[in-house]
Amino acid sequence: MEFINLGNASLAAQYVAIELFREIKRNPHTKLGLATGGTMEPVYAELVKLLKSNPVDLSLIQTFNLDEYFELDKQSPKSYLYYMKHHLFDHIDIKPEQYYFPDNDRENLDEDNKAYDELIMKEHPIHLQLLGIGTNGHIGFNEPGTPFTSNTRMVDLSEETIRANARFFDTIDEVPTQAVTMGINTIMQSDRIILLATGEKKQSIIRQLYDMTQPNEEIPASVLLNHPNVLIITDNEASPYKK
Ligand code: F6R
Repeated sequence: MEFINLGNASLAAQYVAIELFREIKRNPHTKLGLATGGTMEPVYAELVKLLKSNPVDLSLIQTFNLDEYFELDKQSPKSYLYYMKHHLFDHIDIKPEQYYFPDNDRENLDEDNKAYDELIMKEHPIHLQLLGIGTNGHIGFNEPGTPFTSNTRMVDLSEETIRANARFFDTIDEVPTQAVTMGINTIMQSDRIILLATGEKKQSIIRQLYDMTQPNEEIPASVLLNHPNVLIITDNEASPYKK
């Protein structure tokens, strides 16, 4: 696990966008794992700029999002599909057949989750997985205590996550309490992982992660200690080196 503090948040976002862009350029068939949340908004803004100002073929790439709120209408402006269209997909040359989300309907949920994992693993796992991190160490919506062997499934969101996500809704009561998330095992199959953390709210969990030598299921992101290719990018505020 390599940590790099890039100083300010926009530089950190720019760096991550360049890594995504270079991955696409290097491999026209690339499979990207994508995250949502406030941290990723400037990353997608930078990626859109790069894709507009450089010729690159997107027709064969595939993207797989980490999560979606359970039973939230996909057309809702609060859905992660809407988020991704708003911040990325509507601005680049990509067709709906190329981007995938975990299915968030109750009907056939187990089969659909299994199919999502199979699709992710088909031919080649995700080449580059982008992650944010919750203040409690969650990755995707894998909350503390999630077994490292978990695959895509429905989960209950923790109080901390519901409170943190309330900023995207009018009231906290509107925040869905459940989601469907890629599992930790699914995430760990990726060839390469970049986790981006910015802002002082993330400093304590990043510092904890930096100090850990053994993965512990109470801090889901600590599973990344077991992965051979993980880069953790921070700004000064989230930096593990901050005194
Ligand atoms: C969202 C996701 C979450 C977020 C995390 C941080 O798809 O996977 O793990 O990355 O909750 O969210 P922000 O960036 O809003 O602090």
